[in-house]
Amino acid sequence: MPAPATKLRIKSPALLVAESGADRAGHGLKRTMGLFQLICFGVGAIVGTGIFVGLSDSVAQAGPAVVVSFVLAAITCVFTALSFAELGGAIPVSGSSYSFAYAGLGETTAFLVGWCLLLEYGISISAVAVGWSQYVNELLDSLFGHQLPAALSAGPGDGGFVNLPAVIVIAMACVLLVRGVRESARATAAMAAVKLTILLAFCVIGYSAFKDGNLTPFSPAGLGGIGAGTTAAFFSYIGFDAITTAGEEAKNPRRDIPVAILVCMGVVTLLYCAVALAAIGAIGADEVGGRPAALSYVVNRVTGSSIGGAVVAFGAVVAIASVVLAVMYGQSRILMSMSRDGLVPRVFEKVSPRTSTPVAGTLIIAIVFAIPAAFASLDAVVNLCTIGTLAVMAVVNLAVLALRRREPGLNRTFRVPFYPVAPLLGIGFCLYLMYETGWTTWLQFAVFLAVGLGVYAAYGRRHSRLATTAAAPSATVATEVAEAMAAGTLTAELTADVVEAAR
Ligand code: ALA
Repeated sequence: MPAPATKLRIKSPALLVAESGADRAGHGLKRTMGLFQLICFGVGAIVGTGIFVGLSDSVAQAGPAVVVSFVLAAITCVFTALSFAELGGAIPVSGSSYSFAYAGLGETTAFLVGWCLLLEYGISISAVAVGWSQYVNELLDSLFGHQLPAALSAGPGDGGFVNLPAVIVIAMACVLLVRGVRESARATAAMAAVKLTILLAFCVIGYSAFKDGNLTPFSPAGLGGIGAGTTAAFFSYIGFDAITTAGEEAKNPRRDIPVAILVCMGVVTLLYCAVALAAIGAIGADEVGGRPAALSYVVNRVTGSSIGGAVVAFGAVVAIASVVLAVMYGQSRILMSMSRDGLVPRVFEKVSPRTSTPVAGTLIIAIVFAIPAAFASLDAVVNLCTIGTLAVMAVVNLAVLALRRREPGLNRTFRVPFYPVAPLLGIGFCLYLMYETGWTTWLQFAVFLAVGLGVYAAYGRRHSRLATTAAAPSATVATEVAEAMAAGTLTAELTADVVEAAR
């Protein structure tokens, strides 16, 4: 039996699923993604700027012990990934952590989570696009011996004027996304294959020149260095939760979403540790640390030719473009859910009948986040993106705890093991990494949250559909939906009834 809406304005999982079920009845998104596509989408969303560009920053902090940093960052994510897997299987809707917070902790927290997701998804569109631009220049340099002029390929903070390649990759992702999910999923699968192949080839080349001596001293900056390296490495794992934003476009979300999340995390963690060891083992941490386009440099040094570096640069260009595509997809689906709930303007929930995609919302996102991409530097935005993502993850772990108490009968196709220790550890790790981002980032984050609360008070709270309609479906219909969800027999007719009742 779903909990009634309370002062916290909680939205029951039954209603969240029922509203998304309206789409299944033919009003919006299409279910086209199988397990394989979901895994490719996950790898597509995760592997990008963090390993190709950010690795050298993590190595500069931690030295060879960066491998420990990668494992610690992965552990932080794994506890939270388990929570995402439980909630993504139980409440398969596009809103991801925003919707989970709405069901577990109420509307204000949900709005703030949605607001922080603008950092995790929106700002990372900009950050990742800036990283893309660096490797485009590296590729042009390897192929033709020329780079784009700095004025046109970097923002003012990085000694340029406008970062045109960053804007171009955002525009390309936008075009692909508005054309259709099937097209985007195909492109993402192809791009995931290219980047995995190139990173594996990188490992083979790196290990061919491996020298044990390059791993000593193992931890030159001690525990402090490992901690700072972990915060830097965390960025490279951001994106695994994007899989849950495909809850309404997956063919069998309850079964496939938890599996896809856990498979992606395993593959990516192994890959990152292997790449970091290969790079450092080949040329030493001092040469890798802080170097732009470090992976291309390693290959050039080992092979003594610039061809290998060009291939790696090509891999990076493809890899990073696919992250832009995936995070832009996630951002559009989250804003769609918020719009459906009345917390952001209605334009974000409009789905084009021709392409079955939220065209206007995707265009707005592309335009808004192209601006920081054009003018900001990567360093300026990465920490903010990291702290916002960690805050969201902490809340998702909290939502698991809250929903286990509030909705014990919910149909959970996957359950977090070692409950409640795992989600509590997830929260602890997230708070620790948030602490490590430093006080300037905290200050920026506090201002960002305060603005978010202001926007909620001025717009979201007043337009909330949950508050403005007669508290959603009748108790009888909601009970029927909850029972059908638990039994796995939810039908389009039943969900349509609930949505009608809620309007
Ligand atoms: N994890 C994503 C990347 O590294 C954000 O590009």
